[in-house]
Amino acid sequence: MFFVTTAIDYTNGSPHIGHAYEKVLADVITRYHRLTGEETYFLTGVDQHGQKVQQTAEKEGISPAEYVKTVTTRFSALWEKIGVHYDGWAETTDPRHIRCVQAILSDLYAQGQIYKKTYKGFYSVRQEQFLTDRDRDETGNFGPEWGEVTEIEEENYYFKLSDHTPWLRDFLETSEDTILPGFRKSELINALEKNTGADLCISRPKERLTWGIELPFDPDFVTYVWFDALINYISFIGYAPDSSLPNFKTIWTGRPVHIIGKDILVPAHGIYWLAMLKALDFADNQMPQLLVHGWWNRSGEKMSKSLGNIVDPVELADTFGVDALRYYLVRDIHTGKDSNFDVERLVMLFNTELANELGNLCNRALNMSVRFTAGIISPGGVLTKDDTALQQSLIDCTAAYRKAMDNHEISMGLEALNRHVVHCNQYAERMKPWEINKNPENKDRLATVLHHLAESVAHCAVLLSPVLPDAAAKLAAQLKLPQLSELKLDDLTWGLIPNGHEIEKPSPVFPRIEVKAEI
Ligand code: ME8
Ligand code: MG
Repeated sequence: MFFVTTAIDYTNGSPHIGHAYEKVLADVITRYHRLTGEETYFLTGVDQHGQKVQQTAEKEGISPAEYVKTVTTRFSALWEKIGVHYDGWAETTDPRHIRCVQAILSDLYAQGQIYKKTYKGFYSVRQEQFLTDRDRDETGNFGPEWGEVTEIEEENYYFKLSDHTPWLRDFLETSEDTILPGFRKSELINALEKNTGADLCISRPKERLTWGIELPFDPDFVTYVWFDALINYISFIGYAPDSSLPNFKTIWTGRPVHIIGKDILVPAHGIYWLAMLKALDFADNQMPQLLVHGWWNRSGEKMSKSLGNIVDPVELADTFGVDALRYYLVRDIHTGKDSNFDVERLVMLFNTELANELGNLCNRALNMSVRFTAGIISPGGVLTKDDTALQQSLIDCTAAYRKAMDNHEISMGLEALNRHVVHCNQYAERMKPWEINKNPENKDRLATVLHHLAESVAHCAVLLSPVLPDAAAKLAAQLKLPQLSELKLDDLTWGLIPNGHEIEKPSPVFPRIEVKAEI
């Protein structure tokens, strides 16, 4: 089973474009893996505990439970709206999750992997963590990124992270495919070098924080939000047996892919989570691969509430449509790198690559077939060099698409698809079926040209389906080939359209975005 997860989003605000990107990326990867024929399970959800949530709820004068309920709905409604289809949904206040986290805590405590000690140090409320001298800036102060910092002394429970760091270093150094893309690995290894010997504080005293999972062995404490949240990747697929959840063993069969942003590789996923799994006796060949994506910025700056430059995905979907949004989010960024969100590029990419190129190809192929051959598609006569070149372009582009998609490089996959579309439109310009049609003796030639265009549309519909499933289904419907949605990548050979097949008059699947007001 191919098991893919994303980070679970903090429910301390509304979903923004970064959240939407990560979930669309995971949705595209899931749909692509299904297209390869692999059984796939996609888990995502929300992270509902922690100090930030408690504080925001307090400010709003409601209980944290009420607060997270409202915010959670904003997230799930967005996924529904933009076609992010998951198999499992994680909410960390779910009793099934709480039971699993407590079972794990009890286990690790019984094994001596968790112990209590007193610690005095500087604490960042915003980041919910103790700081060390390494977190000070050049001037010796804790920078504004930490928010309010206070010195506190308290007893807490610690997880023996240091027991697992030697293994972790070896494991990461010898593994080429745990951290994707590979350039992020050195950042993690450097952090690990600095981290030697430190254990992880996994509790918060209830005087300070009540909105969390109570420690099963000490009711005066709740669990640190990260320790709680990371466990979602196993709790919601039935790690602790629960009849309402899937069977863990059938889903975590090999190495799952965890899709996360670059800010939560170090230390949360790259150090804590891998060490936690090791403590739970997961073998090296069960360790997740961490697919680390970059960030969407605005004009090179981070999006933040204080800068007021956060992009709202709901508004974008309402203004430009779900297709334009999904397409842009995976088209204008290289997986692993940052990108600048630019609404003009969103419109431009939709209008050029979808409305003008692919949309034009579909309309031409189908309209001319309806007008010139009564909607009947047949292979016609002898193939020319132009025809075989078009077929070769499709073979090459499909191979390039697969290679890119196998590497989670969605933008390159779409570029490969677009290359073939452009090739087809140039072929149409050169072959001029509208001229061929003027001479009734050229019926066979006309059929061949239109067949090459229509056959290309059928392939493009399948290749596009992970990114734009609805548009792909519309294309298949116009071709009157609903069976295209059942095809796997290996079924994509020339001849998807049966000889003598009749298609329908098309209506535009990618209507141009006309920009009226300023955007
Ligand atoms: O970190 N561009 O939640 P979160 C791209 N609850 N991705 C972005 C982004 C941006 N501008 N801003 C945030 C948390 N993200 C934890 C995760 S997992 C067990 C717990 C990504 O709501 C970010 O990198 O702050 C992360 O992967 C995800 O959105 C959720 O961020
Ligand atoms: Mg964050």
